Amino acid sequence: MELNKTFILEKACDQPTPFYLYRMDLLRATLEACKKAADKYNYKVHYALKANSDPKVLQTIGEFGFGADCVSGQEILTALENGYSASHTAFAGVGKTDDEINIGLDKDIFTFNCESVQEIEVINELAQKKGKVARIALRINPNVNANTHKYITTGLEENKFGINKWEFEKILKTLDACDHIKLTGLHFHIGSQIVDLSAYRSLCLRVNEIQQWFIERRILLEHINVGGGLGIDYYQPDLNPIIDFEGYFAIFNDFLELQPHQELHFELGRALVGTMGELITKVLYIKNGQRTNFAIVDAGMTELIRPALYQAYHKIDNISKSDTVSDVFYDVVGPICESSDCFGKRVKLPLTERGDIVAIRCAGAYGQVMANQYNLRKIPDVVYYEG
Ligand code: LLP
Repeated sequence: MELNKTFILEKACDQPTPFYLYRMDLLRATLEACKKAADKYNYKVHYALKANSDPKVLQTIGEFGFGADCVSGQEILTALENGYSASHTAFAGVGKTDDEINIGLDKDIFTFNCESVQEIEVINELAQKKGKVARIALRINPNVNANTHKYITTGLEENKFGINKWEFEKILKTLDACDHIKLTGLHFHIGSQIVDLSAYRSLCLRVNEIQQWFIERRILLEHINVGGGLGIDYYQPDLNPIIDFEGYFAIFNDFLELQPHQELHFELGRALVGTMGELITKVLYIKNGQRTNFAIVDAGMTELIRPALYQAYHKIDNISKSDTVSDVFYDVVGPICESSDCFGKRVKLPLTERGDIVAIRCAGAYGQVMANQYNLRKIPDVVYYEG
């Protein structure tokens, strides 16, 4: 399932650049692989909408039977509009507003993943007003190091996310006083773009310990949710377009001790949509400096902020040139008035010219959703490649 260069070049002729290209054939193959691997253990996967909420992408994922993991009221409404069922929708987030909680209550969602004592009290109060009982899970901070970028690691103590073990007694007291809350699960998430899978083994062992604390107090939980974070291969997307879902789920089967009838839930974003997306851009100018050649392209940090924000690596391919003989090094930069508007430094490309079409790879996750209109730029269109 190769990147179809002819298709991209044709589209780039009759479509303004930059644009996002979503490879629906790769998306479907990824979903199939994930579903097959999860079904083996009867694991439930929720798609984390925050990674990519394009309607066609959402609908395709929904058709495979995935649930939804939402972090705002608008994400809940969008998930439901695009065919996800409320009974498979989770609502997470450290700062849920009253309006957003009310949306979740009105729609009778599967669970609110709660992150503080006060949040539980507020959900209780709002549920009481509606004469409802809200199902909640406690988002627990497992204090596991995900070995990923410091801005996308979340499971360490004194993070803004989650509840720490020393708060458990207080949480139980709060729950005792909240008649409109039903505790149904525990939720964990240790970070994003995790490629060292041993972090998940550590997570399982921590979950077992934490579960024990609840079991000793005879608190039975219907589900455990271990979050998302499974990383993709940004370096070799053609070699590894689909991540090893089997190996990933097998870790949980091997190390996580589920109680009888307990369900295991996941919230995957990037691993489902990361590699299927490309940001297609055109070279505007080549500027040869004394030490550095710049390839100035018409996409910028406004369309894909990851390199500027996290120093994230994205592979860059010149789609117009197939010769690999005359490789040159370029800093591939955008047009935005910020020095951090750079997709890659010293990127080895064939001799590149004005008008060449360049693909910034693996832009399917946290690309379009994080786009902004700085410099009054237009949010680009999406082109779908069906295969
Ligand atoms: N569950 C929770 C509670 C999360 O906070 C996240 C992501 C996910 C699931 C999905 O994580 P994934 O499977 O996609 O790694 N903008 C950053 C990533 C931020 C991730 C935020 N939370 C980036 O571009 O790398």
